[in-house]
Order: sequence, then C-alpha cells, then structure tokens
Amino acid sequence: MQTTFLGDLEVSVLGLGCMGMSQAYGKADLAESERTLHRALDLGVTFLDTANVYGMGHNEKLVGRVLKDRRDEFVLATKFGIWMEDGNRGVNGRPEQVRDRCEESLKRLGTDVIDLYYLHRLDKTVPIEDTVGAMAELVREGKVRYLGLSEVSARTLRRACAVHPISAVQSEYSLFTRDPEAHVLPACRELNVGFVPFSPLGRAMLTNRLQELDAQDKSDMRSTMPRFQGESFDNNLAMVRAFAEYAESRGCQAGQLALAWLLAQGEGIAPIPGTKRVAYLEENVAAADLELSEDEVDEIASIVDPLRVSGERYVASGMASLDRD
Ligand SMILES: NC(=O)c1ccc[n+]([C@@H]2O[C@H](COP(=O)([O-])OP(=O)(O)OC[C@H]3O[C@@H](n4cnc5c(N)ncnc54)[C@H](OP(=O)(O)O)[C@@H]3O)[C@@H](O)[C@H]2O)c1
Repeated sequence: MQTTFLGDLEVSVLGLGCMGMSQAYGKADLAESERTLHRALDLGVTFLDTANVYGMGHNEKLVGRVLKDRRDEFVLATKFGIWMEDGNRGVNGRPEQVRDRCEESLKRLGTDVIDLYYLHRLDKTVPIEDTVGAMAELVREGKVRYLGLSEVSARTLRRACAVHPISAVQSEYSLFTRDPEAHVLPACRELNVGFVPFSPLGRAMLTNRLQELDAQDKSDMRSTMPRFQGESFDNNLAMVRAFAEYAESRGCQAGQLALAWLLAQGEGIAPIPGTKRVAYLEENVAAADLELSEDEVDEIASIVDPLRVSGERYVASGMASLDRD
C-alpha cells in the first residue's frame, strides 16, 4: 500500500474506519470485525480511525484488545469532544477535561501513546486556542504525537495552527459531499495540513450495494439522515446507478471508483473507508491501485453531480453543530 503525509505524519493512503464495528450501520459482528482489523494490517492498511464516542468506548477497547500485540504496526487515530448522555449528544472542548479524556482513551486502547488525536467537533463556546492549547500539552508530555481537528472551518484551522501545528483535518468528503473543496481543503494545502475524508463511500450509498434501509432499525444512523429518506434516497440511488454503470465499463466496482476519485484529488489525502467485513476491506484496498486520467476524474464528478444530491447529510441539529466558513 502506498503512503502519504498528513503534515509530518506518514500514513497508508487508505485507512480503515472502525466506527461501524461498534455502532452506526446495522448489526455488529465481532468475530468478523476482529478478522478485518488483522487483515487490514496484513494488507498494509496501517492507519486506523476510532473515537472515544464510538460505541461509548467499545470501539477503542476493541481496537486496543485485538491489535495489542501489533501496536507498532499502525498509526492510531482517535478523537474526543463528542459524548452522549441520556440519549443527548453533547460537544465539549473545555481545556480542563482534555487530559482526562486522553487518559481514558489511552487506557481503553491499551497503549502509551495516541499517534493522531483529534478534536471531534468544535465547541462553539470555547475558543479553539484554548482547546488546542490543552491538546498541545499532551504532545509535550508524550501522550500524543500529532494533533487533528474534525469538521472545522478554514477560519478555525488557521487559528488552531497559530497555537500548534495541526497535522490533519478530518471531514466528510466524497463524491456526494464536496463541501470541503470551497475553503478548508485549500487552507489545508496552504498550511501543510493533511486531509482525511470520512464517509468516503457516502455511508455505503456510493457502492451501489445499499438498495434499501430498514427504517425501523434505529441503530442504523442512516435511518434518520435526510439523504437516505424517501424521495431523496430514490433520487440519489438513481444517480449512483449511472455511476455504477460507468464503473462497470471501466472494469471496477463503484465503491472502488469513489475511493480512487478521492485519491486523485492530490497528495496528503487519506480516506478512511469504514467496514467490518474482510471482503469489503479487500475490495476497497484494491482502489489504491486504480489510476484515473484527468478526463475520467472530471467525467466521474459530472455523473455524481453534487448539485443533484438530494437531502442534507445530517438532521438540522447536526448541521447546526458544524463549524462552517
Ligand atoms: N469525524 C467524524 O465526525 C466522523 C463521522 C463519521 C465517520 N467517521 C470515521 O470515518 C469512517 C468511515 O466513514 P463511514 O463508516 O461513516 O462511512 P463509509 O466509509 O462511507 O461507509 C461505510 C459503510 O459502507 C459499507 N461498505 C464499506 N465498504 C463497502 C464495499 N466495498 N461494498 C459495499 N459496502 C461497503 C459498510 O458496510 P459494513 O458496515 O457492513 O462493513 C458501511 O455500511 C468511520 O468508520 C469513522 O471512523 C468520522
């Protein structure tokens, strides 16, 4: 697997998103998740993404337990700043709790050091300088190697970089969600900050394998997301069908083409497709070897036209919590 740099941190060009092993997309399968984690490292996918909130600590414990004897083989990224209590989601970037959150994650992960530690969401009640200042202390103490921010605006990124180097911004970015292209991605390039696209497969939509959702299954987070509802879902699927036909004519799977398109956006971009299945992982990994011409990159972007994507990516409260330029 090829590598790229997020700031000074070298990672495999494709990482593995571990969230779905503990929550979000249907029934968990622990045994298959464990096989997937090992297979990822065997295939050279050495950039693993988790967060303290995924499964309320379950995901960090899973990654730590399964890979405890292979800790030196991968770059470990985790996050703090979002927490759920009594079904309510909160954001907390207050500096005085940052060390405690980090210590808890280190314990769950069974490690002495987190390679990349992200603030999961900006706490709009706390100046970013204060949160990043507390995160920088963790770097000085050797608990964390590099810092990242998730879903921040270019404005916030610039303020953060003035306090401490930021190695990566992680935000939703895919053929379906092109928002980062306007401000934050150019700012990343200017400031030598890497970019980590999350939900690069549009939460499975871009694979063309998600044909329906069980609206009753509230454990599947897509059941409330506007993009996956009713007419919006049907419109989006129709667009993906055309995209899948294009992929077929090119001899690859739709999901692979979606990942290759992201990789073609330039250096310092490391998408983290999420899966709990070995077969999907193996298919996704092969996308790193697909080379697209400039014409193909443009053609793909015109088939999955962001202006024709129906529905927001989050419900209104989720959209309001984002830090946008
Ligand atoms: N910073 C943030 O706020 C944030 C938000 C969301 C996610 N993330 C991170 O980003 C990672 C990736 O994003 P994501 O998991 O939300 O979305 P994603 O990678 O776009 O899609 C994951 C979904 O696609 C399915 N899938 C994966 N490969 C497939 C294939 N080859 N064919 C068919 N289906 C396939 C998975 O199925 P299975 O589950 O059945 O394997 C899962 O349902 C997460 O795991 C998490 O670490 C971060």
